[in-house]
Amino acid sequence: MSRLQQKIDDKMQRAEQSGLLRRRQLLTQSVGSANRLVHQGSIKHNFASNDYLGLSQSPELIEALGEGARLYGVGSGASPLVTGYSDAHAALEQALCEATGHEAALLFSSGFSANSALMKTLLDKESVVVADKLIHASLIDGLLESGAQLKRFAHNDLGAAKRLVDKHQPLTVVTESVFSMDGDLAPIDELYELTQANDAWLIVDDAHGFGVLPLGGHNKVDASCCDIQIVTFGKALGCQGAAILGSNTCIDFLVAHARDYIYSTALSPASAHVALKAVNLIKNGECRDRLAQVIEAFKLAAKARGLRLLGSHTPIQPLVVGDIDKLAKVNRELKTAGFWVGAIRPPTVPQGSARLRITLNVNHTQAELEALADQLQRALQD
Ligand SMILES: Cc1ncc(COP(=O)(O)O)c(C=O)c1O
Repeated sequence: MSRLQQKIDDKMQRAEQSGLLRRRQLLTQSVGSANRLVHQGSIKHNFASNDYLGLSQSPELIEALGEGARLYGVGSGASPLVTGYSDAHAALEQALCEATGHEAALLFSSGFSANSALMKTLLDKESVVVADKLIHASLIDGLLESGAQLKRFAHNDLGAAKRLVDKHQPLTVVTESVFSMDGDLAPIDELYELTQANDAWLIVDDAHGFGVLPLGGHNKVDASCCDIQIVTFGKALGCQGAAILGSNTCIDFLVAHARDYIYSTALSPASAHVALKAVNLIKNGECRDRLAQVIEAFKLAAKARGLRLLGSHTPIQPLVVGDIDKLAKVNRELKTAGFWVGAIRPPTVPQGSARLRITLNVNHTQAELEALADQLQRALQD
């Protein structure tokens, strides 16, 4: 056996033995069957997707995908600096700038790519960066590749962030707006005040906030609460892709230097067209009100059954189980009872805090919410 094959086999065996081996599951979802997944021939209620507003199934966006393909074809054909930047991309960038108040935007095919490109392009080994302990893997990977000195503060601990900023005078502070595994909110206003007072930038990964909550949870323009905002289209917007938003000079710099942007085929114009329609759909905030009702209803159902949620006010409702074997058992029981919930284990979350990551969306019915809460109560009691 080759040495590389041996290495792969050893690592897989170790992961299997520790109960942490990740595997894909084949799931089928059809249009018109909101929140129904088919797994090995049986139907599951989907409480694991990030499609918070149900837009992935929206008739308007399905129509927009066809329209985008008819207008522009199905692929961009090249990287953006060659021939891959079209009026479909420019129109989406413009709409994002209008929605957030930033001067300029830059599109990527995924949020992971946008985040890691941003970190490794803006920062280098002379840079000091202060970041929340729980920022996303894509930001961490980009920071590691940049060589920047990374100083991390305990999750959402403003005092600790302040101490690190005072001591190290970083170029930037990095946080998420809505934390992906905890569902809680960063103190955006306070962090922005802190960075402004120290000639630093605030960079906010708004992957789970955009479309769901205004940045900072208030009605200020997003651009007045941070220097750079990353928004993704694969979550509340229900489609695919991402954008970095910031000043003209910052975006021009990224266009000229971000290798992930320069050397990768551009997001397809049809995808840009769909994302543009999605940005227009979320403008009136109508679906947000329905989502708020679903969140409240689930929290009440959980409380009535003594379930200890983390207290999040967002569609991300984690329930910490702690032990990975217990989590696996609870998750198996949920699946058997017809519920598909994210089971999140270390290293995605800290050791000892393995959890169910229950995600809610506008299409969940009261009956589904109550049924999930009943089943959680049963599975956790056993
Ligand atoms: C906080 C956060 N940022 C960025 C990303 C990456 O976005 P995308 O799924 O578009 O690659 C994710 C994805 O899960 C995320 O949770």
